[in-house]
Amino acid sequence: MILVTGGAGFIGSHTCVELAAAGEAFVILDNFSNSQRGVLERLAQITGQAPLFEEGDVRDGALLARLFAKYPIDAVIHFAAFKAVGESVAKPLAYYDNNVGGTVTLLQAMQQAGVRTLVFSSSATVYAESAVQPIAEDFPLSPSNPYGQTKLMIEQVLADLDASEPQAWRLARLRYFNPVGAHESGLIGEDPQDTPNNLMPFVAQVATGQRAQLRVFGNDYPTVDGTGMRDYIHVTDLAKGHLAALRYLRQHPGLLTVNLGSGRPASVLQLVDSFARASGRPIPYEVAERRAGDLAQYWAEPALAERLLGWRAELDLDRMCADAWRWQDGEARRRAAAAPAA
Ligand code: WQD
Repeated sequence: MILVTGGAGFIGSHTCVELAAAGEAFVILDNFSNSQRGVLERLAQITGQAPLFEEGDVRDGALLARLFAKYPIDAVIHFAAFKAVGESVAKPLAYYDNNVGGTVTLLQAMQQAGVRTLVFSSSATVYAESAVQPIAEDFPLSPSNPYGQTKLMIEQVLADLDASEPQAWRLARLRYFNPVGAHESGLIGEDPQDTPNNLMPFVAQVATGQRAQLRVFGNDYPTVDGTGMRDYIHVTDLAKGHLAALRYLRQHPGLLTVNLGSGRPASVLQLVDSFARASGRPIPYEVAERRAGDLAQYWAEPALAERLLGWRAELDLDRMCADAWRWQDGEARRRAAAAPAA
């Protein structure tokens, strides 16, 4: 059985859908700090059975010990973390406590319980700014914000743990690029609790009319149309990458590090155009100043994951936008219908 920490979150819930489809037993641990309890019901609708669920925090070592005793857990997929770059700059201690401290507590509980397989949700934000693209796994590492630092520190913890007991641990460090989109059912998707920092959820809210217009953070970058370019990857492809990594670890002890990206960069305006076509809605925007800390462009060299895991991103930008739109539009309608009559 697989323990999925943060399994009610955006990427976690989509991974649970793929685990269920593959016949993998799993139990979700989540404290709803960045997710909704209603996701559990949606997972039941999609998979046909209510997921096993425990409410709690990865920093609670006693709770973790109880979970390892209660369930026949033999692997962990670890999503639970804070992930807002800007927030991490304002609240570094909360990020180090939750992300790094939580992971160390989880690993200690795993060691105590004799569970030695972990798939870790890392991020391309660990890479240094690079003029050379695409980015491969052996590129220099130098995060530019506390959030990225927590991911790099956890990667180092995993490397040191592997070195302390060679071949005893099975550890995967998955470096995500830009996860977007939603499950094709439209029942689960990205659901930011306040103003979205990221492009896709903001565009989706402009399309539904929740927001008046998009601000494009700079159009004077040295890119195809002057706007920032990123490696967007459909969250369902990303979820399948976790299953592929888990299967790899079951056959190969040690430390695995791979990029999970499409290798196909897209600009802000290309995404806006794709979303307008997918939704049939106009996406008004104004060009604003560059956002501090933004890079012109980066995208993944995905070859290693394909070679080692037999995994590659299959879904294109139009499909990412179509699925994100179905989720955003459907959720807006459901919430409007559930709202008390004015
Ligand atoms: C994408 C592009 C913006 C919003 C972030 C995190 C990273 C990872 C993925 C966790 C850029 C432009 C955006 C807007 C815009 N998260 N943009 N107007 O910054 O590549 O990566 O999410 O691992 O750690 O840093 O994603 O979606 O914020 O920006 O013009 O309102 O869209 O300038 O070019 P980013 P993003």
